[in-house]
Amino acid sequence: MSTVIKNGTVVTADLTYEAEVRVEGGKITEIGQGLSGDTVLDATGCYVMPGGIDPHTHLEMPFMGTYSSDDFESGTRAALSGGTTMVVDFALPSPGQGLLDAIQMWDNKSTRANCDYSFHMAITWWGEQVFNEMEAVTKRGINTFKHFMAYKGALMVNDDEMFASFRRCAELGALPLVHAENGDVVADLQQKFLAEGNTGPEAHAYSRPPAVEGEATNRAIMIADMAGVPVYIVHTSCEEAHEAIRRARMQGKRVYGEPLIQHLTLDESEYAHPDWDHAARRVMSPPFRNKQHQDSLWNGLASGSLSVVATDHCAFTTAQKRTGVGDFTQIPNGTGGLEDRMPMLWTHGVNTGRLTPNEFVAVTSTNIAKILNCYPTKGAILVGADADIVVWDPEKEKTISADSQQSAIDYNVFEGKHVKGLPRYTLTRGHVAVMDGEIRTQEGHGKFVERPPVTPVSKALSTWKELTAPRKVERTGIPASGV
Ligand code: URP
Ligand code: ZN
Ligand code: ZN
Ligand code: ZN
Repeated sequence: MSTVIKNGTVVTADLTYEAEVRVEGGKITEIGQGLSGDTVLDATGCYVMPGGIDPHTHLEMPFMGTYSSDDFESGTRAALSGGTTMVVDFALPSPGQGLLDAIQMWDNKSTRANCDYSFHMAITWWGEQVFNEMEAVTKRGINTFKHFMAYKGALMVNDDEMFASFRRCAELGALPLVHAENGDVVADLQQKFLAEGNTGPEAHAYSRPPAVEGEATNRAIMIADMAGVPVYIVHTSCEEAHEAIRRARMQGKRVYGEPLIQHLTLDESEYAHPDWDHAARRVMSPPFRNKQHQDSLWNGLASGSLSVVATDHCAFTTAQKRTGVGDFTQIPNGTGGLEDRMPMLWTHGVNTGRLTPNEFVAVTSTNIAKILNCYPTKGAILVGADADIVVWDPEKEKTISADSQQSAIDYNVFEGKHVKGLPRYTLTRGHVAVMDGEIRTQEGHGKFVERPPVTPVSKALSTWKELTAPRKVERTGIPASGV
């Protein structure tokens, strides 16, 4: 069965042009005019774009004594509904657990995925077994390793562990990812606010000021530079972190920053809401910031100092959030966003003139496909690419509401926000999963996307580091010892 998308405008990260797109066997087989196929999808008035890639999700993740409530089924259904056709989730070994064991667990959960997916591997502890298994992980097609500088006593790794792991990544041609917050300072500030009787969700934000994030971002960048490896900073939320990334990139360091749609569009006033549930539902790390930080993130996307917009989708129900009544440190950290990332970014980015449609494609799909080494199978409208396509209707509008969302939780942090720009069709490897608002997902349709190590960027950096490495000085005159 073949499908032809007709009457639309193809928009990629660098081109905009009128063309029909033919899809067969899950791939794009032809781009041109006068194409024929078994089914026609009418894209009149629409943009035909690469489906979104969300490189940061936590589906059915064990965290803070519970599990995040969207699993690979509801999470990828939400993704497709909003125009996202691939997610990258974090395989998270528990302390002492082997990395290959963790992959097995994530393999089991992801059999229900409605769209394609890949994994990052988290380095949650350090030892010979982890060092050795990192190579086997890259051979399984996982070329990214995540490090948490926060969550002291749980997921956090120390600087010596991070340096060792980064050096291993350099050897393997893998890319380290970092959750950059100073976990020691956060732990101290949490105790200080609790001791002062500041136990509500707003104290979560007070305990994680921008300096905590800026310091850790800069430290991760410097450690990566010393290890000779590129680095990717997840959920960049503030000017201090963006500044460190910007400076590093101007110095030729290979550093990427990933703001979230939540940080771009929601601000710290959410934590001042008189309703405890409202504020607690928005507890995530890093917390929402003020308008100046938001402007910094938008400017980074427009100027190219920030590369990718993600969600960090980690959805907890109100009942789960209430574990933290009386002690904000017990509120499960995380918010949803998979379904809303693309419409919110279009509405607040493209419709306002902060981003061009091509830049929108770059930051929602193409840039991350290149960084993660799955381009142009993903992130492209090209013959031979996977038919992961969103046919985007810039005139379609809705008001976001938990009542009509795909996510399994009972609220939405974007509740009441009006968006203009939504998918007319979403295709996942050729299967039309969203047909004019109707959800036709197929549980289990999603396949694992292998991402081999040794990318062009890792090769270039290792060449440069080798060329400029400290070398022993060969001397002509050496004084006799002891004279
Ligand atoms: O608060 C957050 N971000 N929860 C998910 C885990 C993480 O830190 O990415
Ligand atoms: Zn994180
Ligand atoms: Zn995360
Ligand atoms: Zn089908």
